[in-house]
Amino acid sequence: MEQELLLIKENALKDIKGALDAKSLSDVKVKYLGKAGELTAVLRNMRSVAPEDRPKIGSIVNEVRTCIEEALSQKEKAFEREALSAKLQGEKIDITEPSKGQEKGSIHPIMSVLDELIDICVDMGFTVVEGPEVESDYYNFEAMNTPKNHPARDMQDSFYITENILLRTQTSAVQSRELETRKPPFKIIAPGKTYRNDSDSTHSPVFHQLEGLVVDENVSMADLKIMLSEMMRRLYGEGTKVRFRPSYFPFTEPSVEVDVSCPNCHGQGCKTCKGTGFLEILGAGVVNPKVFEIAGIDSKKYKGFAFGIGIERSAMVLNSVPDLRTMYRNDVRFLNQMK
Ligand code: DAH
Repeated sequence: MEQELLLIKENALKDIKGALDAKSLSDVKVKYLGKAGELTAVLRNMRSVAPEDRPKIGSIVNEVRTCIEEALSQKEKAFEREALSAKLQGEKIDITEPSKGQEKGSIHPIMSVLDELIDICVDMGFTVVEGPEVESDYYNFEAMNTPKNHPARDMQDSFYITENILLRTQTSAVQSRELETRKPPFKIIAPGKTYRNDSDSTHSPVFHQLEGLVVDENVSMADLKIMLSEMMRRLYGEGTKVRFRPSYFPFTEPSVEVDVSCPNCHGQGCKTCKGTGFLEILGAGVVNPKVFEIAGIDSKKYKGFAFGIGIERSAMVLNSVPDLRTMYRNDVRFLNQMK
């Protein structure tokens, strides 16, 4: 038995030495020390050893086991060291290599026009307010003097969520909310997203507007004209011509549409302005007294004017982008040219 044990030890040490990787080393471990291993089998045979020989044999078994275990553990550690150094080698970074550089982001052209307009308005004394994009029919239409079945609703093909809730079609909805809660006099602007069931090269189902509302005791169409002309000159540049055309909105009386001279051809007529020399940018007017009455504001005492500017149109014109949809695709090659 002693011979057998020494042979096991010898073979085990040979196998451990010859193991090529962690996997074959673990096979060696199973082969000798595992449940069905060679050393374990000898232990099981201890019953056949004469009782007086057992302590001696027992101590040899222990010595052989310790010896094998130590050799295994040393070899395991060697494999671990090898694996670690291979891993480190693979992860080595050449810190002297020149860097690839980082792409810088930029403000989206639509946001950049909106930010610029907000700055212009804040400079003129307006307070910025916001309202919900999911809006009630009441604030979006009814409180803006556009009752159900009013023909003006046809101009705004709306996304309804329920019969009385929709995605707001105009930032004018924020006017209704502010008129209900604010005490005049006040000057507010409401920039934000608006939604209509429209999609072609100049219309997107989601777009942006900037709404403005001034309420005071003595404001008139003349104030509106001066303020909007100045705003447009600041946005489009000195020398921009501003044109007011009569129009109709249920919430203003009188109502106007405002055009600016085409920044591309300066009024000569080109593709951008379809040969007219002008671009339609916004709707505006003197607040209809009915809107004040619906909100509970004394329409004898207070007057007001309001405007709603379409942002996409301005962003397209200022950046010479012929198709609005490219603005929303966010292809970085396009955005890089807009910086
Ligand atoms: N809400 C109008 C639209 O989306 C634009 C507008 C016109 C807003 C006149 C106004 C206004 O505040 O007074 O077509």
